[in-house]
Order: sequence, then structure tokens, then C-alpha cells
Amino acid sequence: MTFKPAQWPRPLRSQEWFGGTGRDQIYHRGWMKNQGLPHDLFDGRPVIGILNTWSELTPCNAHLNDLAQRVKHGIYEAGGFPVEVPVFSASESAFRPTAMMFRNLAAMAVEEAMRGQPMDGCVLLVGCDKTTPSLLMAAASTDLPSIVVTGGPMLNGYYRNERVGSGTHLWKFSEAVKAGEMTQEEFAEAEAGMSRSPGSCNTMGTASTMASMAEALGMALSGNAAIPAVDSRRRVMAQLTGRRIVQMVKDDLKPSDILKKEAFENAIRTNAAIGGSTNAVIHLLAIAGRVGIDLTLDDWDRCGRDVPTIVNLMPSGKYLMEEFFYAGGLPVVIKRLGEAGLLHKDALTVSGASMWDQVKDVRNHNEDVILPTDKALTQSGGVVVLKGNLAPKGAVLKPSAASPHLMVHRGRAVVFEDIDDYKAKINDPDLDIDETCVMVLKHCGPKGYPGMAEVGNMGLPPKVLKKGITDMVRISDARMSGTAYGTVCLHTSPEAAAGGPLAVVRTGDFIELDVPNRRLHLDIPEEELAARLAAWTPTHQTYESGYGWLHQQHVEGADTGADLAFLKGCRGAPVGRDSH
Ligand code: FES
Repeated sequence: MTFKPAQWPRPLRSQEWFGGTGRDQIYHRGWMKNQGLPHDLFDGRPVIGILNTWSELTPCNAHLNDLAQRVKHGIYEAGGFPVEVPVFSASESAFRPTAMMFRNLAAMAVEEAMRGQPMDGCVLLVGCDKTTPSLLMAAASTDLPSIVVTGGPMLNGYYRNERVGSGTHLWKFSEAVKAGEMTQEEFAEAEAGMSRSPGSCNTMGTASTMASMAEALGMALSGNAAIPAVDSRRRVMAQLTGRRIVQMVKDDLKPSDILKKEAFENAIRTNAAIGGSTNAVIHLLAIAGRVGIDLTLDDWDRCGRDVPTIVNLMPSGKYLMEEFFYAGGLPVVIKRLGEAGLLHKDALTVSGASMWDQVKDVRNHNEDVILPTDKALTQSGGVVVLKGNLAPKGAVLKPSAASPHLMVHRGRAVVFEDIDDYKAKINDPDLDIDETCVMVLKHCGPKGYPGMAEVGNMGLPPKVLKKGITDMVRISDARMSGTAYGTVCLHTSPEAAAGGPLAVVRTGDFIELDVPNRRLHLDIPEEELAARLAAWTPTHQTYESGYGWLHQQHVEGADTGADLAFLKGCRGAPVGRDSH
């Protein structure tokens, strides 16, 4: 931790718009004053953009306007000038073809909103899955002082006294309906109790994972991730975040001061300890790409191997974010990593303190939620990176969500050429499939779907479910919801639409999965694989114009974060020319 605060006072970039008596400055100030703003707000104090991903079609973020007011209080209290700015909100539950296709578009739009407007620092007001990484990517590319505050998770869901986790129970209940164990009416009844309050998914799904990643990276105040959306302490957190960003601007504490390789390694280990979403792999690789940190899939495997999963939350365990908060939340987990020698303790955080200083005095209040190491859900909880002739650039698997008896498995492939093919065949009683088979889904990667949908945990065929079987080995180039579970190999790279070996797997081939040896192998002769690849021609749908075209032309593979190639790197925030 070598950060040295800048001298204060000094001129800030916002003064290029608002300072002085020239025509241009009067123009910028004068128009702002139509909002009833006193003149002294333009006197050189830090102008803080509250980048708000509120949207009524992003239900997980629909309460953020209230939190934005709390952030404003904090900014005013600390002597800053808050400006609330609505930004692109990529809703996980509503966007088609998939919110992931718009993560990069959101990041690009937010980056330009930060650079092109008079902001000296930013509060990233986020929650739903893609909103957190997209704004972090933007902040990393502008390198303006920035701090994350999330909207917080929903309260626990309940159905007839059973705890119901967002997403996790959607998959469970829909499979129970298919297996004849639950009626359609009961499923509809459960719907009413799934989402009982404002907030993001209450499982350790992608939203909770990315909130945890922001905290573990040092980009959010300690304790932010788990506070429920409706708990009054969430508002306090928002207000404290508003206060803090003003000082960060005065100190010139930027993302590049915090987002070092050590910060990413802390986040990767934290992800293993919490049983976090595989989506974190793609998002952290993309954020690292924006600050020029050399982070690879191999870092994920290396850092996660020795980390037990100690957070007993769905989808891997039994509780939800509400209980995690009452138990002490993420600071307890980070402290445990530190005690086990698995934390870069000196890593700098947005508070100005080191990671260790922030967590060293916290206590675990519930050992059934944050487990002792000898009772961990799995001793090696890190995301596993598989390689082999089926995934030359890697595939990932989440061990805490997988079945131990399938970790070494050889089975006959049943191939679905794309998600429509899967939907057309999966319920067919004549489909030649049993629980020993390996389900293979193609053309669901970054280019192929396009956007890399969360369909990798494809549901099992009804005739297998009816035998009481709940898991099979599944392989695809898709992602999986952080709320989902199963022995699922994801992000297979290169993807089928880019001509990866996945594209040439045929029904009837045999596939070997060997998690202990990190191997994913298509058991056909080398010459046969080479001949099939040489004969391959693209079959996926392509866009001819619009953002879809831009995305398909420039998106990179999942193994490097699926960013648009031309958006990688830090471009800073030069103030540029004034056109007035
Ligand atoms: Fe928005 Fe899960 S769908 S957080």
C-alpha cells in the first residue's frame, strides 16, 4: 500500500466547465442554474456524478432513486456538489437476447458519460448482475476516482415456510413440476413469495457475487455487499459512500491505485470462499483488461485451489444473503482469508485503509452461515479451469455447485446445436439419453447467441428427472446464472461460433471430464478432430447492422473476459475541447 494523497486544494477538471467568467463557463453554469443551484456550488468543490442504474425494467435496481438521495446527503455533508446522472441499466431479468450482450455497451456509454461531462469523481450506484461490472469497467477506463455502492439484496423468499432463493428455487421448482413432484398451481403460488422486497437476488448469485467482488477488490466500503436493500443500514452505507467519494477526489485516489494484481487475487479467493458465481470470472477478466492488469484464467485456477467454500448460501448451501448479513457478512470471510495466509493484507481500498485494517476486528455471529473450515462446503472451492482438446483455451466449472460423483466421468455426448434445438428435443420421450450421457450445447457463446446467455445449466430431460436424478454432466460455451447449480462446464473456449472444437462434437462421441486433473477431452482420434475442424463452416446467425453487428464483430472470447477488443485499456479522462 504505497498511496500518497494529492495536495488539496487544487484545480479540478470540473472547473474547465464551471470555473471563471468566460462565455463558455457562464454558458455551462447558467444552464445548470435552471435547477435552482446556488452560485457557490461552482466554486471549485468536487463535482460528483452519482451514476444511477435505476430503471423500472431493472426491478433489482428500482429502489435506487431513494439511495441516490442518501448518497447526495453524504456528498453535500463532505463539501461536494452531487449531480445524479441516469445511465444504461442492463436488466438481467428483462433484456433480450441476454443482458450480457449489453454489458459492454453499458460500459462504453458510461465511460463516455464520465469523460464527456463535468465530473471529478463518481459513485457507481448498481445492483443487478451486469450493472456492477459495466460501471466498474467504465470507471477503470476513465480512471476517475470512483466508489461502488450497491442496492443490496432482497429479503429472504418463502413458500409455505420453506426458504426460497432467487433463481435457485425457480430452477428447482420448474424441475419438480417436470418430475411430477409439484403442480403448476403450487409453482404459481410460490412465485408470490419469491421476491418479497426491493433489492437484487437474495442468493449468492451474480449480483451478490459482484457486490462481494467490488468489496473484495477494494472498490466499495467494507460491509457494503450483504446489507439487505430495505435495512436502514443500507441507507447509512449510501450516505457514508457519498461522504467518502469527496475525500477520494481531494486525495486523487483512483481505480488504478486500487485495482492492482493483488486486488484481483484477493477477489478471486473471496469468490472461492463465498461459492460465488462463475460470471465473476468473465467480469473480473474484463475489468482487469481495462486497467491493463495481466489476469488470466490460470490465475483463477491457481488462486482458488486452496480456498474452502465457507459461506453456506444458496445455490451451494442453504441460507440467503439476509442471514449472511446478520452473521457478519463479507468482512468476516475476508478476515478468515487473512488468517489463513490467503489475503494480500496490504491491498488498498477506497476507504484509504488497507484491506486487513478494515476487517481484522470483525466477528462471526453465526457459524452455521459462515462455516468453520473443517465444515466447509468444499475444501477446494475455487472455480476450476479445465483444458483439453475440447477446450484449448479453457472452460470453467464451479465445484461447490457440482456433484462429487460426477467430477470424474466419461459419457456419450447428446448434442444440441443451439438453444432452440435443445428446447425442441429435451422433452421428447424418444430422445436417446440417460443419466450417464453428457449433454452438449453449442452456439451460446459471446458471438454465437450472441451475448453468451445463461443457459449452460440446461434442465435435464423429464425421463431422467422422473428417476429422481438431479444432475448430469453438461458442457457448453454459455454462461450459467450465479443462482444455478450442477456439474456444468461453462465458457468453453474457443466457442462454437468461432470454430472451436465444441462446434464439431457429434451425438455419440464420448467425452471425458476429469476435474482433479483439470481435463476436458473429446475422445476421438486427433486426425478425425482435425478433419472435422477443417470441414467446419459457420452456421450461427449474424447481425448485419446496429449494435448487434458491432458486438459480433468485436467481442473477444470468454477466456479473456468477452469485452469488445477496442474498449480494452485505460483511456483516462482528458477534458477535451469545448464546442461552445
Ligand atoms: Fe437482477 Fe438477479 S435478476 S439481481
